[in-house]
Amino acid sequence: MIPEQTNLIFFVNGKKIIEKNVNPEWTLLYYLRNKLNLCGTKLGCAEGGCGACTVMVSRFDRKSQKVVHIPVNACLAPVCAMHGLAITTVEGIGSTRTKLHPVQERIAKAHGSQCGFCTPGIVMSMYTLLRNLPKPSMKDMEVAFQGNLCRCTGYRPIIEGYKTFTEDWEVMQNGTALTNGNGVCGMGDKCCKLQNGCNGTDKDDNEVLFKPHEFTPYDPTQEPIFPPELKLYDTLDREYLVFKGKDVTWYRPTQLKDLLELKHKYPDAKIIVGNTEVGVEVKFKHFIYPVLIQPVLIPEMTEITQLKDCMKIGASVTLQDMEDALREQLRTQPQYRTRIFLSIIEMLNWFAGKQIRSVAAVGGNVMTGSPISDLNPIFIASKIELELRSKENGTRKVIMDEKFFTGYRRSIVNKDEILVAIKIPYTKENQYFYAYKQARRRDDDIAIVNSAINVMFETKTMIIKTIDLAFGGMAPTTVTAPKASKNLIGKPWNQETLDLAYTYLIDDLPLSPSAPGGMIQYRRSLTLSFFFKAFLAISEQLQKLFPNIIIDKREMSAIDGFHSQIPKNSQYFQVLPSDEKIKSVGQPIPHLSAFKQATGEAIYCDDMPYFSNELYMGLVLSTKTHANIVSIDPTEALKMEGVHAFYSAKDIPEEQNKVGPVLHDDEVFISKTVTCQGQVLGAVIADDQITAQRAARKVKVTYEELQPIIITIEDAIKHKSYLVEKKIEKGDVDKIFATAPHVIEGDCRNGAQEHFYLETHCTIAVPKKEDCEMEIFSSTQHPSELGKLVAHVLNVPQNRIVTKVKRMGGGFGGKESRFIIAALPAALAASRLDRPVRCMLDRDEDMLITGTRHPFYSKYKTAFDNDGKILGCEIHIYNNAGYSTDLSISVLERAMFHFENAYEIPHVRVKGFACKTNLPSNTAFRGFGGPQGMLAGETMIREIAEYLNKNTEDIIRMNLYREGDLTHYNQKLEYCTMLRCWDECVASSNFAPRKKEVERFNRENRWKKRGISIVPTKFGIAFTALFLNQAGALIHVYTDGSVLLSHGGTEMGQGLHTKMIQVASTVLEIPHAKIHISETATDKVPNTSATAASSGSDLNGMAVMYACETIKQRLEPYKIKNPKGKWEDWVLQAYMDRVSLSATGFYRTPNIGYNWETNSGNAFNYFTFGVACSEVEIDCLTGDHQVLKTDIVMDLGESLNPAIDIGQVEGAFVQGYGLFALEEMVYSPNGTIFTRGPGAYKLPGFADIPIEFNVSLLKGAPNPRAVYSSKAVGEPPLFLASSVLFAIREAIKSARLDAGLSENNFKLYAPATAARIRMACEDHLTAKLDEPKPGTFIPWNVIP
Ligand SMILES: Cc1cc2nc3c(=O)[nH]c(=O)nc-3n(C[C@H](O)[C@H](O)[C@H](O)COP(=O)(O)OP(=O)(O)OC[C@H]3O[C@@H](n4cnc5c(N)ncnc54)[C@H](O)[C@@H]3O)c2cc1C
Ligand code: FES
Ligand code: FES
Repeated sequence: MIPEQTNLIFFVNGKKIIEKNVNPEWTLLYYLRNKLNLCGTKLGCAEGGCGACTVMVSRFDRKSQKVVHIPVNACLAPVCAMHGLAITTVEGIGSTRTKLHPVQERIAKAHGSQCGFCTPGIVMSMYTLLRNLPKPSMKDMEVAFQGNLCRCTGYRPIIEGYKTFTEDWEVMQNGTALTNGNGVCGMGDKCCKLQNGCNGTDKDDNEVLFKPHEFTPYDPTQEPIFPPELKLYDTLDREYLVFKGKDVTWYRPTQLKDLLELKHKYPDAKIIVGNTEVGVEVKFKHFIYPVLIQPVLIPEMTEITQLKDCMKIGASVTLQDMEDALREQLRTQPQYRTRIFLSIIEMLNWFAGKQIRSVAAVGGNVMTGSPISDLNPIFIASKIELELRSKENGTRKVIMDEKFFTGYRRSIVNKDEILVAIKIPYTKENQYFYAYKQARRRDDDIAIVNSAINVMFETKTMIIKTIDLAFGGMAPTTVTAPKASKNLIGKPWNQETLDLAYTYLIDDLPLSPSAPGGMIQYRRSLTLSFFFKAFLAISEQLQKLFPNIIIDKREMSAIDGFHSQIPKNSQYFQVLPSDEKIKSVGQPIPHLSAFKQATGEAIYCDDMPYFSNELYMGLVLSTKTHANIVSIDPTEALKMEGVHAFYSAKDIPEEQNKVGPVLHDDEVFISKTVTCQGQVLGAVIADDQITAQRAARKVKVTYEELQPIIITIEDAIKHKSYLVEKKIEKGDVDKIFATAPHVIEGDCRNGAQEHFYLETHCTIAVPKKEDCEMEIFSSTQHPSELGKLVAHVLNVPQNRIVTKVKRMGGGFGGKESRFIIAALPAALAASRLDRPVRCMLDRDEDMLITGTRHPFYSKYKTAFDNDGKILGCEIHIYNNAGYSTDLSISVLERAMFHFENAYEIPHVRVKGFACKTNLPSNTAFRGFGGPQGMLAGETMIREIAEYLNKNTEDIIRMNLYREGDLTHYNQKLEYCTMLRCWDECVASSNFAPRKKEVERFNRENRWKKRGISIVPTKFGIAFTALFLNQAGALIHVYTDGSVLLSHGGTEMGQGLHTKMIQVASTVLEIPHAKIHISETATDKVPNTSATAASSGSDLNGMAVMYACETIKQRLEPYKIKNPKGKWEDWVLQAYMDRVSLSATGFYRTPNIGYNWETNSGNAFNYFTFGVACSEVEIDCLTGDHQVLKTDIVMDLGESLNPAIDIGQVEGAFVQGYGLFALEEMVYSPNGTIFTRGPGAYKLPGFADIPIEFNVSLLKGAPNPRAVYSSKAVGEPPLFLASSVLFAIREAIKSARLDAGLSENNFKLYAPATAARIRMACEDHLTAKLDEPKPGTFIPWNVIP
């Protein structure tokens, strides 16, 4: 009997939840945050790609009588799927009010939490791992984090903190296993202790960033118990569930016949297991499936059975369970029988993250029919058997072969059929099976191309009996290579057959030059590379049987892919001696919010409790790139239940509608002409997010399309579409070019980079009902500007608008000005409706509309002498500004100031062009044009070395700036430590011998190549707009001695508040605990600058210092009078004497200001210097790469907090690594953004950081021009990641030499993606691919 309606029952943090009115559309995350007010679990992407929403789900497995814990992405898990399960969220394991869980404590103390938005998810991934394995290995830990992203820390400190839970670490510490008796392990000289690879744990306690021996020990017996009710009774596990919502009904049948009955009755019903595919379709493609069926209780679909010649896996078996079962086969079966299983297991390591694999089913992967499914090529090449079933026709057994998929995401499975199980065969002795996958990022990424190769030989011969090949990523479905399969039969396994195979493969796998996904030649080349790899791997196997097979040793480097290794690292810094007084400055204390961030108690904008009467805003966005708006019709939207209003440009006076940070050339709502996709046309205000967003999609907009559409910098140059043209000139450039011994020309470019702060833009606008006052809670880096613009839009004085920022989940420049997109419409709506309005952008909206780091293109001419000394340079620098000015002119200026990087050039002409295009308005991003500019100088210097055939490092050193040199904008370099940093990095990285070692490696390997490169950087500190170089602070001392500190800077994870408290604590000589920073608010400190330009600590630090000094001076008489008294005594006495205990501090940077007319004055307050050396290894056949080692030396003056500063260096480096080697925003020729989430846009993950990562802060280099002799750190290290780009270039050169090509005559634009690397390593395979004629096709994507 099918029940009418059932209650949803599950446990959250030990508490039983009974939900009588569940809506099957709700995700677990929605339920936790909105119904249970458990906001510790964060929303970062809603597509399973960031891990911020990770929770632990536990169930009692009645077969094994064990509690099973899995990590789950709450953003995809339907809450209905939680019936009978126990959920643990970050709040359930510990809190600062009671007791921290060791997992929370260690990430905080190890400095692994900066903005903290990723932290709860990472905590829960680690926690789940520990619940299953109290002593995991490093490998277990690595796997556990495959599905988690962090944009701030660079991962090193997280790994370092959590390493202490592992067996490997314990072995190292105790010297228990493998030791030689001295506590040093059997690794001998390579022991990480000897190499300071364990955070220098041998070092003096003062010189470590954290002290593992102070960690609370982990005691697994203290964990909360699994709800006994769920263990004792299986009632909930067996129930036939029916949950009826308004639009969707959820069924969980218990028997196959019931399932078939349902599918018969509702042929369009969706089968849901992991919901990892369907969840994404519902959220981002806005599909509504009225009937959902969860087949997780059907025995036939959940069993794994070992049969004589195959393993039978139920379709609802999760990928993780399948992997475990196949691993067991590997353990128990002869090696030759399990070759397909091994390929599946290896493939699963690169398949999504642990969270997805723990819930996603094998049947879901088959049935989704994705052309880039990772398992389908394996299944098709191995011709697995599928068992299908329907009510009408019973069982149907089909072989999964080339006929199975009939089109894009379509198969021969009938609508009323269910996939019940699959049968994966054992392999035979004379059968070999290999599978490959290449993605943008190795971990947790979908394939660009994948393949599986299944070869059976005639018994005891090398003659091919059958060969089955399947490929993903080459067509709208997984495809086979029929000609190759047919024509290779009967051929011997040798070079001739290999060549023949290439010919057939090229024929079998054509790809149109306009094919979706782009990278046409690369994808085609991968099919050949994979075959070549399999050829060698199988040859190696055959060699064991036929010893006369000869394989060149150098060729064998093609076989293996990259595998992760245990990371090593060290950090060197100077801890200033702390005198008897409290001297907080200089101490490596943890971020003061880190503990709250690790427990989920830290409140971000969207975690704020709802205001009564609050509404939600959904945005109506333009879908055309360049068009006149003919009409906007909200009728349908306004008819929807729960919708309150719609606003567009008609609702705001023309002048008030015009906004922007510098020029008001943006609009709150586009009034007449859209100039980009994703511009805001209107806002729908409704009861909740789902309604507001659905209604927004119902607003009908008609357009009249316009030309031209300008997307790329080249388009802009063609149309002379510039916002501004600027010039700096020094010396006699024309003369130097006429007389110099050598002149060469070159160019370089970088793509766009998405900020991907884990917390998207968020605003809550709260009208105060009186005098037009409004309070705005926002995730902005620039509260004053937000207040100013809201006042402008509402046409009220600025003193009515108070903007408050508690903290941000990352900013990186992306929240400096683009907050206007959501905050201004929300403020307008709140004011009109007189009700609070909230809006947090979805990840896809944020990526679509808020702009990125500017793509840059630089074209230059350099003059130099015979030694390689640069004499002059003329450079044209173009940035792609997008549709409005925003901060693009300042970004361009910084690029113009920084193009020479660290090199002294006497004669310079630099012209800058900000290109206006039909892309989203690009904006500030860590480095603010500096790194893009510096890329030119760094490319140039290498081209000079290549041209003269000289050692690059010699040319670099010769050209480096020295003390007293003048920049091209005529600023004198003082306290210049450039050479010191260089020499220290050359020495500490052991550069010269390693370069030799790289050469040896390259001689011995044909298909893996290494490269090593060392890069200096110099970064100017100050806002280039003079007036912004000011800051204020406000300090209140209360009569109990507690101090409330306010300053103009915002906290986005960079540890600014922590540093400010350290400054205040040092000046006032009181402990941190007495000082509190609550938030940044415009009614405390007005007219502040954005927290940007790396100058947050410099500017606000001085203001805080001045404010504290005022208080200190006022208290001085009381101290003198009562020298034995305490702070509290002096404060109280001053109060009794009616002395003000409140003070402000104000600072403006002296002696700066640049004059563009005269090319004089100081553009910057001072410079931060640094050098990095990176070594990489590339796979020449796939373009994959791994960073083997990075050594950084950075001059940060006397660091205010070495832990925070090292965190900034590492975080910036890894973000820069993304810019230069990984992250690629992809645009169509007409401006559609294809990369709108972590699924398509890949930031570095845990496995991408250098295997060895050493950071050293220059000692004994105080900076007289900033607070407590410190230096700014946020942006300067980012460019150092270009050392990876240049190391990759070196590796490619070696590959090209081997292929008999010119080593220098090739371009490597940033980012050095796998595709670019592979295609630069031209060889006999790429030579086989004919190039499509340019101009004869429209490419799928363009480079902006
Ligand atoms: C972050 C992320 C990363 C991913 N990474 C990868 C990756 O690296 N490689 C890769 O190949 N895929 C990847 N995927 C895709 C996805 O995870 C897999 O396809 C997964 O196996 C789907 O299983 P599921 O149980 O979650 O499917 P669901 O979403 O529950 O269902 C998927 C589809 O299959 C149908 N279906 C499911 N079971 C049956 C059945 N028994 N009979 C008939 N129809 C059925 C459903 O009706 C639905 O249409 C990723 C997805 C996400 C969200
Ligand atoms: S929010 Fe769930 S994975 Fe990103
Ligand atoms: S600390 Fe990880 S995203 Fe900010």
